[in-house]
Amino acid sequence: MIQFELPQSRNSLVAIYPGSFDPVTNGHLDLIARGSRLVDRLIVAILRNESKQPLFSVDERISMLREVLGDQFPNVELDCFNGLLVDFAAEKGASLIFRGIRAISDYEYELQMTLMNRRLRPEIETVFLMAGEAYSFISSKLVKEVFRLGGSISGLVPQAVEARLQNAGVKK
Ligand code: PNS
Repeated sequence: MIQFELPQSRNSLVAIYPGSFDPVTNGHLDLIARGSRLVDRLIVAILRNESKQPLFSVDERISMLREVLGDQFPNVELDCFNGLLVDFAAEKGASLIFRGIRAISDYEYELQMTLMNRRLRPEIETVFLMAGEAYSFISSKLVKEVFRLGGSISGLVPQAVEARLQNAGVKK
């Protein structure tokens, strides 16, 4: 049984789309486009977690996202966070967390996170969105690996991101 009450009315529906975005891919952009249509405000939030040894700094990742999003989505904001995702969501007045799910292999990790987040803050719901099938195999990790090994990443990331990978000294 659900142990909390849903709000009777709400002024504004806010969702967080959290992730590492190291770097942003066309799959992420597809998710942002889909998610932005569902809510009043969508906050794309980058985790500040240096222990993951990211290729790009948080500032670089925000700057890439800003560049590729341009002014296409007036209800999308960029932010970053430390600590628990659900605390950040609560601080921002978000009742939803959006996560992308690609294949069944994503399911276990996402299920664990969802249930943990629900335990921490039951009033925040995680919603899974599926990117278009053309993006279902893309991950930031694979993009970096393929680029480093000289493969083509055309169509997988925006041009601006490909240029940044080159500038970051990732060998092609
Ligand atoms: O794109 P990613 O790297 O899969 O995103 C993972 C992310 C940032 C959503 C996740 O690591 C996260 O929410 N970290 C914040 C710390 C937290 O809240 N941990 C408990 C969640 S179960």
